[in-house]
Amino acid sequence: MRHSPVPGPDQNGYYIRKRFYTEENIQAGREFYSINCAVCHGQEADGTGIRAEIMTEAKPRMLTNLDWQNTHDDLYMLRSIKYGVPGTAMTPWGDFTSSLQRMQLVIFIRSLTEETERRGQLATALFQAFDAAQMTIENARIEEYTNIDTTQKQYGETKRELEKIKDDIVTGKATPEQASVIFKKEFDLLAQLQKQKEKDNKYTDLKGSVKKEFDLYQEIGKALINRQVDEETFNDFLNLIKISGENRFSIKEKHLTISPAPEKEIAAIGQKIINMLNTTIANLSKENHLEEGKIQTPAIAKKAAHLTSEIRDYTKLRNLIVSNLQEAVREREKEAKNIIGE
Ligand code: HEC
Repeated sequence: MRHSPVPGPDQNGYYIRKRFYTEENIQAGREFYSINCAVCHGQEADGTGIRAEIMTEAKPRMLTNLDWQNTHDDLYMLRSIKYGVPGTAMTPWGDFTSSLQRMQLVIFIRSLTEETERRGQLATALFQAFDAAQMTIENARIEEYTNIDTTQKQYGETKRELEKIKDDIVTGKATPEQASVIFKKEFDLLAQLQKQKEKDNKYTDLKGSVKKEFDLYQEIGKALINRQVDEETFNDFLNLIKISGENRFSIKEKHLTISPAPEKEIAAIGQKIINMLNTTIANLSKENHLEEGKIQTPAIAKKAAHLTSEIRDYTKLRNLIVSNLQEAVREREKEAKNIIGE
């Protein structure tokens, strides 16, 4: 079961009831859609189907466009599918669909919109939490790069000086003492250059770590969207991303500084999400147990198989969250170590 999307501003509009948003209806809508509608509207209903490219007049609508969705009720969509849009490539589907199929199509399109909206929210949260951090590190790195450049030039000049003074010693124009001063200078510059390069590597490692965190969170986010978790859980996770990444890196007096993430708070939100999934798994198992106790008919067997696969999917999701969140903590520990000794 999933939630129906937010009805648009049109409070008097007609919307298909929440209880019809079953997985079966969404799945049936998806199948019909991908065979008959995706050529024009795109697999993701984003208006980018194969045939969309060659259409010159009215382009297939981006069905997941939020503004459009919020200003058109379900009745309007049902009618458009049944009667088509005269004068456009959107032909009437009334003769080729039952009213149940049209309802399933609308339910599927609405659910895609919710998915699109969540993908957008996930992308924004990830961007704000981690891309800003990456840019801060990159800025620090650019600063270091100019240092490397300067040292490299000085090092090159000193090397040339050293070559010259070697000849000068042979011809008696310079003393070995003068040469050793330059030799020392070259040696120091090389050491400095190595240190600066190490620092640069550190920045590269840091960026890699932040990217890793990004990937770990993105993987969880996508899995939550696919499982169509409830609003509260999804928002909890967005918040977890936010507090994990925001404002952790900053440049103070040309130095990259890192503030620790609120690990306790992050762990608490993570635990809340995991608890929710554990409850769901427990409830499904209970239900499955009840089905197993019944006299086995094909319908009951089908339901039991469905419950078993649901249990497996929720368990997979929970395990993914547990391991990715742990790994993210380790990445942050690594980051904190990397910056020490700056
Ligand atoms: C041959 C290409 C094509 C196919 C196939 C197609 N559509 Fe369309 N559809 C269009 C175009 C073009 C429009 C935009 C018409 C317009 O300008 O409003 C559109 C518009 C729509 C709209 C919005 C109507 C409105 O009044 O704004 C809906 C809903 C829709 N299509 C659903 C579907 C569904 C569901 C299917 C499959 C059963 C489908 N379409 C198949 C081309 C197509």
